[in-house]
Parts: sequence; C-alpha cells; structure tokens
Amino acid sequence: MYRTHHCGELRLSDIGKLSTLSGWVQRTRQLGGMTFVDIRDRYGITQAVFNMNTDAALCEQANKLGREFVIQITGTVQERSSKNTKIATGDIELISTQLVVLNASKVPPFTIEEDTDGGDDIRMRYRYLDLRRPPVQRNIIMRHQMAQEARHYLCQQQFLEIETPFLIKSTPEGARDFVVPSRMNVGQFYALPQSPQTFKQLLMVSGYDRYFQIVRCFRDEDLRADRQPEFTQIDCEMAFVEREDVLQTFEGLLKHIFQYVKHYDLGDVTRMSYNDAMRLYGNDKPDIRFAMTFVELNDHAKGNGFKVFDEAELIVGICAKGCADYTRKQIDELTLWMQRPQIGAKGLVYVRYNTDGTLKSSVDKFYNSDDLAAWAKAMNAEPGDLLLVVSGDAAKARKQLSELRLEMGSRLGLRRSDEFRALWVLDFPLLEWDDDDQRWNACHHPFTRPKATAEGWEKTPPSDLKAEAYDLVLNGSEIAGGSIRIHERPLQEKMFDLLGLTKEEAEHKFGFLLGAFEYGAPPHGGIAFGFDRLCSILGGADSIRDFIAFPKNNSGRDTMIDAPAPIEEKQYKELGIKAN
Ligand code: AMO
Repeated sequence: MYRTHHCGELRLSDIGKLSTLSGWVQRTRQLGGMTFVDIRDRYGITQAVFNMNTDAALCEQANKLGREFVIQITGTVQERSSKNTKIATGDIELISTQLVVLNASKVPPFTIEEDTDGGDDIRMRYRYLDLRRPPVQRNIIMRHQMAQEARHYLCQQQFLEIETPFLIKSTPEGARDFVVPSRMNVGQFYALPQSPQTFKQLLMVSGYDRYFQIVRCFRDEDLRADRQPEFTQIDCEMAFVEREDVLQTFEGLLKHIFQYVKHYDLGDVTRMSYNDAMRLYGNDKPDIRFAMTFVELNDHAKGNGFKVFDEAELIVGICAKGCADYTRKQIDELTLWMQRPQIGAKGLVYVRYNTDGTLKSSVDKFYNSDDLAAWAKAMNAEPGDLLLVVSGDAAKARKQLSELRLEMGSRLGLRRSDEFRALWVLDFPLLEWDDDDQRWNACHHPFTRPKATAEGWEKTPPSDLKAEAYDLVLNGSEIAGGSIRIHERPLQEKMFDLLGLTKEEAEHKFGFLLGAFEYGAPPHGGIAFGFDRLCSILGGADSIRDFIAFPKNNSGRDTMIDAPAPIEEKQYKELGIKAN
C-alpha cells in the first residue's frame, strides 16, 4: 500500500496514528539535528520530521532528497510545537520511521510553488510540471467541478448527452477549418467541427428534444487570451421552444454553476437589446459591473465653431466619478493611451467639474461655462467628476470610448474579479455587410431565424433585419451565444440566397440539412457556452489557458509535444498529397 492518507488530510484528531504518505518533495530543511521534509500531493502538504539522534541513517537518507523526488514516508502523527496556520495540516507533523524513494527527479526548471519563478514559455514546455503547482491544480479541479455541475443540471432537465462526429465536411463559415486528409479517399478531406451546430439541429429533427454535449471545437483563427484553436463548448439544443424558454433554461444553468461551484448568488440576469448595448456602452458585450454609460452630446456641442465636433457624426462622452482632480499629466497620459494605434482616437476632450462648482475644459476657447454646465447636466455629473469626450465616425467613436470606459473602470477598481454580473444581449442584427467580398454575412450563423417584421422579412431591407439570437455576457466577456433556428427548408434556402450562396452551393454544402428539414423538423433553438471562458471568469483569471490542461501558445503551438510538426514522406504518399 502506497499510502494510508493523502498529504492534506492529517489533523490533530489523528495524533498517535501510524500513517504512510506518498507524494513529491516540496522542500527539505535541516535545523540542528533535525531534517524537515515537506511532502506534497494534490490535496496538500504535510511536514515530516527526521531526527539525527533517533535514527541517523534515516535522517541522512532524508538529507539526500532533492526537490520533486517521489517519496513514501511512514511515521507517527504528532502535534507540532510551532504550528503553521497557513496550511490545513499545519497543526501536526509526521515523526518519520521509514522513507522510500519511489523515483528520483532532476532539478525542475522552475519552482513548483504557488508563485513560480518560471516564465510562460518554460512553463508551457514543461506543462506537466506546471500542472503540479497548486494554483493550476485549483483551476483544473474547478473546471472539473463546473463540468460535473453542468451535467448534473442539464441531466435533471432531461437533456441527453449525445456525441457528434469530429471528422466532418468542411463548410467554412466564421473561422477557417482545420482539415484532415483522408487516406481511403485520396484527395478528399474531412474538417474538424467549428461547433456541432448542424448535427445538433439534426438531433432535433430526430426527436431528441433536449441535447447537450461538453465538446471540443476547432477553429483556425487568430489567437488571443480568450481564444484557443481547440476549445470546449457546453453545446445545447432544444426543440419546441421559444426564445424565452432557452433564456430561462440557460440562465438557470449559469446560476446553478455559480451556486454550486462558486457559492455565489448571481442574482437576476439583466437583459438589453443590442442597440441599447451599443448606444450605452459602445459594445455588444458590455461589462455592467459598473455604470459610466455613454451620453451623446451632439445637441449640446455642435455649432460653437469647434471644427472637430462640428464635423463629427457623433460626440459622445462618459463621466468618470471623482476624477476631477486628475492632473494635466494624467490626462495627457490618457490622451496618449487613446491615441495608440490599437485604439486610434484622434484626441480626447475633457471637462473638469471642480469641487468648487467651476468647469474647466480642454476646449474652453469654444465653450463657455454655461455650455459646459449643459454637458455636465446631460451627463448627470456632479462636482468632483471628470467628463471625457470623443467624437468622429459614430461606430469608431463608440468603440474608442468603450475602450476608455473599460480602462477607467479598471483604474477606478470597478471591475473586481470577485464580483459577477451577467447580461443577455438580445435582438442582434441578422446580417452584416462584408465590404471586401461585397456581400451580406450572417452575424451569428446562417441557421439563425430572422425576427418577424411587420412587412414580412423579405420586404425589409437586409440591414434592418434582426435575428432571434442572444448572447450571454459575463463581466464583459461573451460566454455563450445562440439563437432560435430556421426549421423550414424554404426559409433556409432564402437565407442561403441572401448570403450569396447559389442553389448548387447551398445544396452541396448543406443539402443534408435542407433534406432533413423536409421530414418533419420541429421548431428548435439552442446555445453554446464557451466553457474555457466561463472557467477563467469564475476563476478570476484573464487567460483561458490557465484552465486548459494542455493549451496551445499564441502561435497555435504545443511546445511540449512540439506540434504541429512535419509528417513523414511515407505519410504524404499514403495520403496522396504532395510535400512542400
Ligand atoms: P459561437 O461561435 O458564438 O456559437 O461560440 C459559442 C461560444 O464559444 C466561445 N468561443 C471560444 N472560446 C475559446 N476559444 C475560441 N476560439 C472560441 N470561439 C468561441 C465563446 C462563444 O460565446 N454553434 C454556435 C452556438 C449556437 O448557435 O448554439 C456557436 O458555436 O464563449
């Protein structure tokens, strides 16, 4: 038997027990005639003591242990004289009588501790060592608990977990597909699914009216902190539902996960239209942990001879509470921050609403105190506040101010990682114009149902069409997206037509779905959660990598196994493809 207890288990109530622990050497210390060995496993750390006076040979053996050796220690549990309140086993220690080295270890390339001295690259290369660190283990364990709770909730709600294939047909929509050559069908390729979208819709046609899957998805797209080429969705679909049913069900899922994993009462999930989100926050995934909403100033700020504003499509500002004491230097620095290429603002206008009630702006030449007071009133500002205003092309100005709002929120400590606010964004546009390809693209995907319009959706200009689509936003991140779907062949064909697909293309790419819609497809809708993102937000981390056991780096590489990598000449031949 390797162990009687794990390394986080022994307490004062175990005093006098003979216990055997197995784990890794966290560290050893020699003090006088004693050697202390901290032994670690995923449950915790226990201190073992070796005494030169009682067993010199054993103590010498302990003195030879290196960091990360795998050892087995047997000993008697004893109360510690100097307790360690920082660890759960800190009241006791093990008076060792036996030590077995199960395996030696090279000196690890970085310290395996809460805070490590290892940089990103080295930790990725030795991910199996990084995964030993308690903070990473906590993340992986939390992910497991979240998956368990998601399953639990969905199973209770009669959802069936059904697997769908990974080798499917390439139908590039949003992102690029990863493709896999077929040896048995030379010259032909499978694609890895970007999501199981069409399969889950087919399952609805098949009558499995509540489906879910915690499933890997693959997208060959540019990577960021919240994007991986392979990532996991909690993918769900329901038949005989309207939007409200879907929203209720998955609001329930999110609340359940928060309650049982985080012990946090999420409260009500706010709802907002896409238009309001853009108008008030300049963003379709607003962070509503704080207000600082946009106020449009066109009616107040045009016509005073300030050319920049006079020529602008939109003048829009935010009120930063209590920031009137920002120094000139701080404001200059903010202006430069806004002018960085990533944001691209031409400038930033400010108005200080001083605590004595006076108003001072960067555009005093054009606006007198009464003008500025009108701005302040429109923006609900109080003495002590700072107004920050941008202008220009409406879409650009909103995007720039949205970045500034988030930055100010962070600077003012309004975006706490232990506070959570969820939001449904509803009524998205159905289509967006692709200037490069000169055609309409589906904002969500081509299977999303258009919202009914008074004049009929075919008579409505494409730019005005809204979708039966919804996104779930948590603390400013899109954690889920879905829609009510088209379930009728003629409507789906019209949608493909609107998206510029010829009849032949539509048939070639999606003939199976169109065909299925002719055999009694029920009304249906669904959603998919970005599981990695949800984990990272609940865990209070910025990067989803911290919650994936074996993630890829920003170039899509796994530096531990060194993938992607060339294949052998023989493999090229078998696959009937040419080497470069
Ligand atoms: P969508 O494309 O919006 O919808 O994806 C759903 C959620 O998946 C997460 N996500 C990602 N997470 C990590 N890395 C990525 N590269 C990545 N891409 C997306 C996001 C997103 O909200 N089939 C539809 C869902 C449906 O209509 O039911 C779909 O895949 O959190």
